Amino acid sequence: MKRKVTKAIFPVAGLGTRFLPATKSVPKEIMTLVDRPLIQYAIDEARAAGIKEFIFVTSRGKGALEDYFDHAPQLEEELRRKGKNQLLETLESTNMESGAIAYIRQHKALGLGHAVWCARRLIADEPFAVILPDDVIAADKPCLQQMVEAYAETGGNMVAAMEVAPEKTSSYGMLDVSEDMGAMVRVQGMVEKPPAGQAPSNLAVIGRYILSPSVLTNLQKIKSGAGGEIQLTDAIAREIENENGVYGYRFAGQRFDCGSKSGFLQATVAFGLAREELHDDLSAYLHDIVTMGKAAE
Ligand code: UTP
Repeated sequence: MKRKVTKAIFPVAGLGTRFLPATKSVPKEIMTLVDRPLIQYAIDEARAAGIKEFIFVTSRGKGALEDYFDHAPQLEEELRRKGKNQLLETLESTNMESGAIAYIRQHKALGLGHAVWCARRLIADEPFAVILPDDVIAADKPCLQQMVEAYAETGGNMVAAMEVAPEKTSSYGMLDVSEDMGAMVRVQGMVEKPPAGQAPSNLAVIGRYILSPSVLTNLQKIKSGAGGEIQLTDAIAREIENENGVYGYRFAGQRFDCGSKSGFLQATVAFGLAREELHDDLSAYLHDIVTMGKAAE
């Protein structure tokens, strides 16, 4: 049965160790690309896809993230008084409807699968989306919206898929594809982080998912048996065994891995260049440092 996807889980309970020392006190998801925190990009994408309920799986030290979604009436009033209408509009566009956000605690960082499982009672028996805010995707049509439209045709489970170079497969869950239908592929297996040359395809899973509630039941079973991290991909792979469809969707857009320093810096440059008011200055600067670097070689 296909149903509308109106709930999304945002797992933000990870330790963010790759950004230490910053993440000692700043949640990774609050770090900014130009002037918007990573989480705002994720929320905007979810809204565009028709999501109405936003479930954050948080942990100790993520207070700033929760505060970010509070309305700021004093600030709004001040901007209104000063006639700073554009800033006011920017601020108001981040306001969330009362009751639209829920926060669930993950008491221990036991893995992405475990974080998703923590939200099970709020999901109940509906299909749901999962968005990892560290994967930021620049696209004309937001990635999750592309997926929701494709999912309306398939039902089942859908993961965002991206082609990666053979030497990069050990950083991703890789898809084993049984049927290639263009943008969409049917998945017959998933392999977590295979070494170079051993991946079943060049399609990697990245941080957007639309999942059936039975994935939560699978997670429950895995949870009772697992010693280490509880992987979301394992629970999705069980859907294939249970003969529930799993599809990969080759989204149109560019993905930045903002969980890594290099990816975060690349995204900063790309999103900076995409801003009209910053483009000329930034590109002139980049041009200068590249040509200076070349001259020094
Ligand atoms: P990462 O693998 O990027 O881990 O998690 P991390 O802790 O955020 O960062 P590093 O590797 O230590 O630098 C992928 C996503 O899953 C969430 C993270 O918050 C991130 O959005 N996650 C991971 C949880 O919510 N709980 C976990 O136990 C693990």
